[in-house]
Amino acid sequence: MIPNQWYPILESKKLRRRPVALTRMGESLALWRDGDGRAVVMRDRCPHRGVALSGGRVRDGQIECPYHGFRYRRDGECSFMPCEGRDAKIPAGMRAHVYQTREAHGLVWLFWSEAFEGALPEIPWFEAAADERRGGGGSAVHWPQNYVRTLETNFDIHHLPFVHKALVLGAGARIDPYQVEVEGNHIRTWGTLRREDRETGIDFRVEFKAPSITLLELSPRLLFVVADCPIDEQNTWRYARYYQDYVTVPGLHGLLSWFALQLDWKLFQVRQDLRVVGTQEPRLPDQERDRLVRADGGTAAYLKLRRKLLAEAGQAPTGLLRSA
Ligand code: FES
Ligand SMILES: [Fe+2]
Repeated sequence: MIPNQWYPILESKKLRRRPVALTRMGESLALWRDGDGRAVVMRDRCPHRGVALSGGRVRDGQIECPYHGFRYRRDGECSFMPCEGRDAKIPAGMRAHVYQTREAHGLVWLFWSEAFEGALPEIPWFEAAADERRGGGGSAVHWPQNYVRTLETNFDIHHLPFVHKALVLGAGARIDPYQVEVEGNHIRTWGTLRREDRETGIDFRVEFKAPSITLLELSPRLLFVVADCPIDEQNTWRYARYYQDYVTVPGLHGLLSWFALQLDWKLFQVRQDLRVVGTQEPRLPDQERDRLVRADGGTAAYLKLRRKLLAEAGQAPTGLLRSA
C-alpha cells in the first residue's frame, strides 16, 4: 500500500443522507455528508466506547453515535455529550479520527497517509476520460483478489485470446509491437495484438496513473477507466466507467455504456477472468515466483514504480497493505 496518495473508495452517488460503512485499506470507515453536502470519512469507531459511527445518523450536519448520542463535527471534534449536559467541558481526546477526503470525477477519494505535511498532490485522472458527455454509467464490483495482483491484470492484453476468446475472435495471440513508457507516476503502454501471419490486428493502449487508476482502450472510440482500491489483503473494490463515441444521442449513449459495462464487468471479468486469475499463486504478489516476459512489460513497469514509490515513502516493498 503506497502511502501519501489519493485512493478512490466509493461512487459519490452511493453516499446520500445516511452514513455508509465501508472497509478499505483493511480499515473500517464511516462515510457521511455534512450540512453542506460535503463528504466526510472517519474511522468507524466512536472514541467514547468504540461503537461503529456508521450505525448512527446525521443531525444538524454532524454525526451522532448510535450508543450514547455523542456528536462529532466534520473535523472529528466532539460537540455534544448528552449524558453530561449542554454545559459540560468536552475532554480533549474525545475526537474521531478523520481522513482527508475529496470528491472528483463522480468518486469519493481518500488520502492515505500516516503523517503528511505540505500541499496534497492532485487527484490522478486521465484527460481522455475528462469528457463527461461520452461517459456513461459506471459500476463497481467486489473482486476477491489481492490489490496488487488485481492491478497487474489491468496491463494484461495477452490473456484476451485465451480467457475472452469471443471478444477478440480471430485476433491472434501475439503482442507485437509493444511499447512501455514511464514518466513520473504515469505508465503508458501500447501495441498490437495480432496473428503471427498478419501485420495488423487490435491496436490497444493501457495507461496507469499511480496509485490506482487505469485507462484501457481497445478502439479509439471506446475506452474505459478502472479505479481500484484495496478492501483488505485478499479483496479489492473495482470501479469501471465507459467512454464511447459510437452513439452520441443523449440518454442512449448512457444506456449503451451501461450495457457494455454490464457485459464486460459481469460476464467477461467476473465469470471469465476470475475463474483463471482466482487460481493465481502466490495469492500475494511475490517477485521471486513470477517469471515475467516481454509482453508483461506493463506489469513489470507497475511493480517497479510501486517499489520506487514505497521506497520514497520509507516503506518495505511487500505486497501487504501495511509493511512492517
Ligand atoms: S460509544 Fe459512542 S457515544 Fe458512547
Ligand atoms: Fe480479462
